[in-house]
Amino acid sequence: MNRAPSTLSGLRAMGQPHAHESAQAQVAGSAHYVDDLPELKGTLHAAPILSPVAHGRLDSVDCSAALRMPGVRAVVLAADVPGDPVLAAFGRDEPIFAQDAVHYVGQVIGLVVAETALQARRAARAVQPGITPLPAILTIAQALAAQSRVLPPVTVRRGAPEAALARAPHRLQGTLEVGGQEHFYLEGQIAYALPLEQGQWHIHSSTQHPGEVQHWVAHALGLASHAVRVECRRMGGGFGGKETQAGHLAVWAALAAHKTGHPVKLRLDRDDDFVITGKRHPFAYRWDVGFDDSGRILGLKLHMAANCGFSADLSGPVCDRAVFHADNAYYLEHVEIESHRCRTNLQSHTAFRGFGGPQGVIAIETIVGDIARALGRDALDVRLANLYGSTERNVTHYQMPVEDNILHDLLPKLEQSAQYRRRQQAISAWNARSPVLKRGIAITPVKFGISFTATLFNQAGALVHVYTDGSVQVNHGGTEMGQGLHTKVAQIVADELGVPLAQVRVTASDTSKVPNASATAASSGTDLNGRAAQYAARHVRDNLAAFVCGLDGCGAGAIRFAGGQVISPKTTRRFEDVVAEAYANRIQLWSDGFYRTPKIHYDKTTLTGRPFYYFAYGAACTEVVIDTLTGENRVLAVDILHDVGHSINPAIDIGQIEGGFVQGMGWLTTEELVWNAQGQLATHAPSTYKIPATGDIPAHFTVQLWPEANREDNVGGSKAVGEPPFMLAISVYEALRNAIAAGLPADHPGVELTAPATAENVLRALRPL
Ligand code: MTE
Ligand code: MOS
Repeated sequence: MNRAPSTLSGLRAMGQPHAHESAQAQVAGSAHYVDDLPELKGTLHAAPILSPVAHGRLDSVDCSAALRMPGVRAVVLAADVPGDPVLAAFGRDEPIFAQDAVHYVGQVIGLVVAETALQARRAARAVQPGITPLPAILTIAQALAAQSRVLPPVTVRRGAPEAALARAPHRLQGTLEVGGQEHFYLEGQIAYALPLEQGQWHIHSSTQHPGEVQHWVAHALGLASHAVRVECRRMGGGFGGKETQAGHLAVWAALAAHKTGHPVKLRLDRDDDFVITGKRHPFAYRWDVGFDDSGRILGLKLHMAANCGFSADLSGPVCDRAVFHADNAYYLEHVEIESHRCRTNLQSHTAFRGFGGPQGVIAIETIVGDIARALGRDALDVRLANLYGSTERNVTHYQMPVEDNILHDLLPKLEQSAQYRRRQQAISAWNARSPVLKRGIAITPVKFGISFTATLFNQAGALVHVYTDGSVQVNHGGTEMGQGLHTKVAQIVADELGVPLAQVRVTASDTSKVPNASATAASSGTDLNGRAAQYAARHVRDNLAAFVCGLDGCGAGAIRFAGGQVISPKTTRRFEDVVAEAYANRIQLWSDGFYRTPKIHYDKTTLTGRPFYYFAYGAACTEVVIDTLTGENRVLAVDILHDVGHSINPAIDIGQIEGGFVQGMGWLTTEELVWNAQGQLATHAPSTYKIPATGDIPAHFTVQLWPEANREDNVGGSKAVGEPPFMLAISVYEALRNAIAAGLPADHPGVELTAPATAENVLRALRPL
């Protein structure tokens, strides 16, 4: 029901903290994930057969015992792939099922298909692969020594770093190791493949990239893309782990369905999910930095190496983003960054929130922290001294001018509101009196580039349908993984048509509605799909405005849409009445919309240009305490000031900031991946791999939003929010290093803290050999 609004602007959906469109259904358990869909008659279940060896020749696969087990219908191997047995991934370096060799523990050799999931899993364990082991490369050091790489190294260089280093009044060298991270989406990887009539397929996939799943499945089945429809209503979390890796599941399920002629569901159990799928890339660094008395960096040589696992997957763009973010917020005049993409016999590491950005930012923040300690200066002062300028010292090492820097205002504001200086003094005094417990505090900023670095992905499409009752259905190329994309897109469309939010529904992502959509990734889901949907809604609104103008004899610009009404200088009508009348007059009530990000361009070989439309900024102030006897540590207090432009939905944005920060905190504190000497992942379940729980949330945790709009023309004046806050958690790591420094002798040169800062690693940092 629509009532006459008192103020029209008060009725806008954007800018309001509306609840997530699925919040109630998710809490009530009525929201559907792939595993909740009613199963079609005849549905079978698949389970993967895994390599027990990190590297070896695959001589044979003995399935006889498995085939005799109860409920087992088939075993699917490489020879059963009707199309190309190589996955249609960028690098074309991954077989769908291991063929002649195995390249990591957990590589999928084939599938067992049975009547129930448990029967399939039991039988998969009974398959005997015949493997002749070969030497395996597991670590970055081994890979660098053997020049084992998935892609050639990349070097970005500006100025004369060697000369700058030689001239610098102070110089430091250091190394750092930072571990990877398991995505730990609450809904594991899953796909449900339904063979339809005439060689058509319908795939339900928990994926961030339905278009790629469609392409991969078609390629494996030897079909054209039009034969495959991929649908995803929502994921129970993706975090980058379902950007490419959901595709493997869908291809496997489709191949099992192809061989048996039945619908097949493939849902990995948690241990298998850990062992099979790639994670955040572990990184190792080596640097040489020269600086002046104020701590300003004069020259830097940074060597970064990523453990990419056995295939390229997204390692190229992930490592590129690490290079692009190795400046974080700081001007590096004379710099050389060398980036190595190591091939190892491990899971193929992949996208994870920040997409290499965190691995770039942590390197420079560590360096800046060390400079401050070496000079005995406050780390925030050193950070401020190195910030990009507004008119000079404002071009990145990849030649992009930083035109929208707000950190000169934002950092001091947070310094004030978090009372950083006062607390820093109080902590020093406290530490002097406390022999065992030591506290630390740090403020770190973030500047995160928004856009896919591969320019072509920065496009999106949407469809807006207005039905004759005035209700609105939207479909766009993005996917919902809990981040609130569908809610924001609905808000944007509601305001464009001037209707209440409840009148707008966003439907499942579906390759048969909007084709060729990019992955929902790079935090750009709302920027891209929100704009495309806004344009689609605008076309419908323009049709309606022209129609009303014809009735009232006025110019199209005179018509306003707000509060569920269409207002012309002559008459105010209800939106649904206008729609019904327009339909009767054969006016088009639905439209498509298309958006491509302006201004961006970049040279892939030199990594120079303007890869990003704009930057998102923020800063966090974190206080921690460590126990110097046990290495245990806790985050005590966190204050965040973050820039989302004009927030489309402050409730969702604050949720993203809190969630991103806590996930980053997990990466740097408790989430430790351990591979043993055989290349087996020893931490493959929540029993051995610890993500943050509610008890780890700091007792004091505040989030403030920066009030200004995006300076670039972005939908609603907003900025992307999904990934940038993740890097604010580097303040936890820097605060920990501060606390450790307080536990070391005053003349100790540096604090070498391997990330994650588990109790063991904190103790190692406190008792260097
Ligand atoms: N938030 C939730 N709840 N679940 C997720 O899986 N993924 C993150 C981020 N926030 C994720 C999330 C990642 S890796 C990205 S790239 C963005 O959301 C993607 O969505 P967006 O572009 O719509 O922000
Ligand atoms: Mo996010 S890592 O770009 O899916």
